[in-house]
Amino acid sequence: MPSIHQSDIKTNKNLTILSIESSCDDTACALVRYDGTVLAEQIYSQKEHIQFGGVVPEIAARAHLSHLSALVQKTLAQAQIDWKEIDAIAATCGPGLIGGVIVGSSFAKGLALAQNLPFIGINHIEAHALTVRIPNISPLQVNFPYLLFLTSGGHCQCINVTNIGEYQRLGGTIDDAAGEAFDKVAKMLGLSWPGGPALEALAKEGDENMFTLPRPLYGRPGCDFSFSGLKTAVANLLTDYETTDVLPRQFAADVAASFQKAITTAIINRLENAIKLAPNSTLLATAGGVAANQYLRKHLLALAEKYNLPFIAPPMKYCTDNAVMIGWAAIEILHQASKHHKLMNDISMLPRPRWPLSEMSQRFDV
Ligand code: KG4
Ligand code: ZN
Repeated sequence: MPSIHQSDIKTNKNLTILSIESSCDDTACALVRYDGTVLAEQIYSQKEHIQFGGVVPEIAARAHLSHLSALVQKTLAQAQIDWKEIDAIAATCGPGLIGGVIVGSSFAKGLALAQNLPFIGINHIEAHALTVRIPNISPLQVNFPYLLFLTSGGHCQCINVTNIGEYQRLGGTIDDAAGEAFDKVAKMLGLSWPGGPALEALAKEGDENMFTLPRPLYGRPGCDFSFSGLKTAVANLLTDYETTDVLPRQFAADVAASFQKAITTAIINRLENAIKLAPNSTLLATAGGVAANQYLRKHLLALAEKYNLPFIAPPMKYCTDNAVMIGWAAIEILHQASKHHKLMNDISMLPRPRWPLSEMSQRFDV
């Protein structure tokens, strides 16, 4: 079975990975080099879900299947490279919507077998966590340990990244993810899906102090998050209206601004605890779709400055789901594996809907 040998990693400065991401509603493929150079990248953000107001797992899996093959071909054509120049195939093996993960990882394994290349199975959250280390993407060289606040439609957690394969989950949501809360509140306000960007735009017209909303878990120890009570509090503000009513614009804007302030205040309070729990952190980084929110970013920056930490938010296309982070994670993992004198080929790795980061260090056991 092919595997990348330790000596290959050390000598082959041109190590090139073909990577695939398919864990939610983005079908993506990239070619990433050892030094972080992105030779090519393609992404299809599935439009198939808009009419349903949220991601439909079965439709997502089918859309990955329809688009993946053409996307891989486009990526190869964009880079104008030959299979002989590719050293390994990497794909998300979890966590995520299992149908899509099965489609992407099976496709990648098929390519690996056909081309006699090793397959590297990637944990999607680990890939988000390592994105800030991609040279040329971050303004700084990112060393361990650092804090990552991952906030998207499906994930909300704070991770202390201490090394490749070593991730300490400081806390996570006990109910909704932040993006889910943005989307649900946006829906209540009559905005279209995905609601986060629309809610942020509407909030600019509103008074954030008009309504006092709960800041869940504020002041409590630890770094867990909770947003469902906040969502219910917003629903209670709207009880005078039918769900089919068009809300008065100023009222909707005031609700949006007050919600954005409450959720941000709660997040910042939880992250302040995270910084205290991981006092050796060299910086605060963020990733995930909600990290696009400028109001939140402004407060994350202020929090980092308060503790004299640099704050890094990668460009939006690398904050949201993408295949470049999957290729980069494979490069980091291969590097680490070579330090442990371990040959890598995950061809028998199974797709997983859940895959805790605490298991990642096991992959380097010899
Ligand atoms: O990372 P992402 O593209 O996909 C996954 O969920 O994996 O994140 C999408 C989420 C959606 O819930 C969307 O509403 C939210 O990120 N989002 C925002 C903003 N842009 C995207 N939330 C608040 N403010 C934004 N500007
Ligand atoms: Zn993601």
